[in-house]
Order: sequence, then structure tokens, then C-alpha cells
Amino acid sequence: MASANRGQWSGKTAFILAAAGSAIGLGNIWRFPYTAGENGGGAFVLLYLGFVLLVGIPVILAELAIGRKTEKNPVGAFKALVPDSLWPYLGGLGVATGFGILAFYAVLAGWTLSYLYGAVTGIYGGVMTAAESQALFEHLIGDPTLTIILTGAFILLTILVVRKGVSGGIELTTKILMPVLLVILLILAVRSVTLPGGMDGLVYLFKPDFSKINGVVIMSALGQALFSLSLGMGAMITYGSYFPKTENIFQAGIAVALFDTLIAVLAGIIIFPALFSVGVAPDSGPGLVFVVLPSIFGSLPAGQLFAIAFYALLSIAALTSTISLLEVVVAYFVDEKGWTRNKASWLLGSLCFVLAVPSALSSGGAAMFTDFLGTGMDFLSINNIIWGNYSLSIGAIMLCVFVGWKWGIPAALESLESSGHKLPSSKGLGILIKYVCPVAVGIVLVYIVVTQQYF
Ligand code: PFF
Repeated sequence: MASANRGQWSGKTAFILAAAGSAIGLGNIWRFPYTAGENGGGAFVLLYLGFVLLVGIPVILAELAIGRKTEKNPVGAFKALVPDSLWPYLGGLGVATGFGILAFYAVLAGWTLSYLYGAVTGIYGGVMTAAESQALFEHLIGDPTLTIILTGAFILLTILVVRKGVSGGIELTTKILMPVLLVILLILAVRSVTLPGGMDGLVYLFKPDFSKINGVVIMSALGQALFSLSLGMGAMITYGSYFPKTENIFQAGIAVALFDTLIAVLAGIIIFPALFSVGVAPDSGPGLVFVVLPSIFGSLPAGQLFAIAFYALLSIAALTSTISLLEVVVAYFVDEKGWTRNKASWLLGSLCFVLAVPSALSSGGAAMFTDFLGTGMDFLSINNIIWGNYSLSIGAIMLCVFVGWKWGIPAALESLESSGHKLPSSKGLGILIKYVCPVAVGIVLVYIVVTQQYF
């Protein structure tokens, strides 16, 4: 049994909702549409869905198997399974990645808070042109003081939940709010699709143009699948470690993957028709969602209410994701270094805030970070790619190599089936973890290195 001070989820539904809370966030609603838009639409979406099936499903189950078996953070888990080896460093990479992602994710989450404020104060009451919306967005992200304060506020919220521990803090937030988010998204999707010219957006999103595929598109699709499902850095090891022994973890893992992917596709169905309708370019970059959404709210009856509900839920969805990012880091310091949860949350959260400042300043706040080291890219986008695509992909391939070739499929299956629920196809899962996933991710990484299409 998990020791009393680590805590446990109260049941399967609670776990699904909490893990879905980690998975569903800005990755689905901000990152998926803009990355799809930058990478040519339909072909990217097809690759993304393929990677969810062939890489996402095996990795989520591999992580949950490790977490449930060891009941530990990523580093402790590898130490428990293969002491005196280099594998715990893979856990260490996961902890570092959690930090790296949180340090830019919190900036975007801060933007969301500002839009929530804008919705409450009525900025979205009337119809807004794309140019007006763009100006509003640039004004916000270019204000150094405001973005830093918003980032700090978001990290503070995250600390306040994580210091309370998993069951107290995380479950409650997710239980009611994720289903409400789904309903709001469905309503927005219907509105968006029926906007004049909206159908062109659906064609862009779902009709693959295979000539668009290159190394960057493939890597972005792989990274997006992992980022969106919170995989490759041990978040699901950590969450799986709190999973009650009696529940069906396989079903839970699959449900999370499906729910997350559904929300991302739904976000696409909202954003693309709207952007074609108002005439924003699909490859407008990270600001895409923020610029396009106000035009949908402006065209809805009671648009302001929708805007308030949407940004409130998006902030909460982002919060349940930042919680899981900080939780990986905190669990490591609590389990391995003996820190109290309170101390770990405050210290590590504060450190992350400091590390987030360059990202907060990278959209106009400070020239040095806006065009970082003459790359033509801003600091936030670079971090998004390094941690969100590369680090997670390396984590994912190594996790599958570990489970498939070191720990062994039988041990992983035993962990997944320890509740007494048999897997539908244990052989199939073994093949996915041992061969399909490492080969698929390996090919992508080698292709990137050979063609040098890194960004
Ligand atoms: N999956 C989250 C999202 O889509 O917003 C982001 C994330 C959370 C990535 C936790 C990785 C992670 F470990």
C-alpha cells in the first residue's frame, strides 16, 4: 500500500479525471491548433492521431505500469526497479523537463488569466475584428510587468494546490469542471462551424495534403501527441503511483488518451472554421487561439457569458496541468530528498517563477528574449520545442526501451493487471512497447538529425 502521507486517489473515476486534468490543458486548446496551423493542417493532424495510437497509448500504459508498481516519483521508480544503474537519470531528465515545461507554460497560463479578466470586464461584449483582437493581444504579451505578474500569479495558484497533496487539491478541481469544459467546447464548435466560410476551416483541418510533410511536421506531430497526453517525463508515473491497487488501470489509461484527443480535435473544430471566417492566417503562430477566439464570442448571443465561462475553464484546465508538472518535481524532492511537501512546493515553485521570467519577456517585453541569440525565434517558443518536443520524445523512447527490454513486458503486464482485470491484448501491447514505439520515435529522431530540420 502507498504510505499514508503520499495519499491515493479515491477511485478510478477520480484518477481518470485527475490524469485527464493533467493531459487536457493549453496543449489541446492553444498548442494543438497553432501547431497544426503552422504545419499545414490535415497531414499534421493525421500524423498526430497516428502518434497518439502508436506511441501515446504504449507510453501512457508503460508509465502507469511503472508508477503503480513502484508507487514512486520518476527517479525513485527507476531506483526501485533497477538500483545501481543509469536508469534513474532518465527519471532525472523527466524532473528537469517538468521544470522546463512549467517555466514557459505558466506564462501562457498567465495570458489566459488576463483574457479571463478581459471577459469579465466586458472587452469581449461586442463584435471585434481580427485586427482589433490582434492589437489587444500584442498589447498584453508585450507588457513586461503584466506578463511577469500573471506568470507569478499562476505559479502561486499551482503551489497552493500542490502543497495540499494529490487527493485534497487535485481531484476536486477536475471532477466537475472537465465535463463542463467539454459542454462549452461543443457549443463553441457548433457556432464556429456555422460561421460564414467556416467549412473551409474544416477542410484545412481534416483534408491531408501529403506534400506538406517534412521532418519538422513529423517531429511536431510526435511532440504534440506526447505533450498533449503529458507523456515522456514521468507525470503519469507519478500519477499512476497514487492509483488504487484495485482499479482497472488499463481502462483508465485508454480513457484519458481518448478524452484528451477528443478535446484537441474539438479545439481544432472551433479554431479553424473561425479563423477562415475572420481571415486570420492559420500559421499565425502562438497567438492564434488568443486572436481568433474573441471573434467567435463576439458572434454568439450572450457572448460575454461564454467568454467568461470559457476562459475560466481554460484557466482551470491549465491549472490542473501545471499542478501535474510541479507535482513531478515536488514528488521527487519529497520522496528522495526527504523535504516536506510544503517546503518543496514553495521553494521549487518560486525557483520555477524565476526561470519563467525570460519566457514572460520573450513576446515583446525584452528584445533580447524576443529574438533569442539571433535565432529569429523567441525564448518561449524555443523552450516549447526543446522541452515539449525533443525532451519528451527522448523520454518516451527511453521509457519504452526500459519497459520492453530491461524491466520486461511480463513485469509491466503484471503491474497493469494486478487489480485482476485482464488486458484485451497483452501480446499487442508488448509489440507496441517493445518494437513499434521505439522504432517509430527512433526513425523520427534519426531523420531529424540526418536532415538537420531541428526547428
Ligand atoms: N498535457 C498538458 C497540456 O496538454 O496542456 C501539458 C503537460 C502537462 C505536458 C504535464 C507534460 C506534462 F507532464
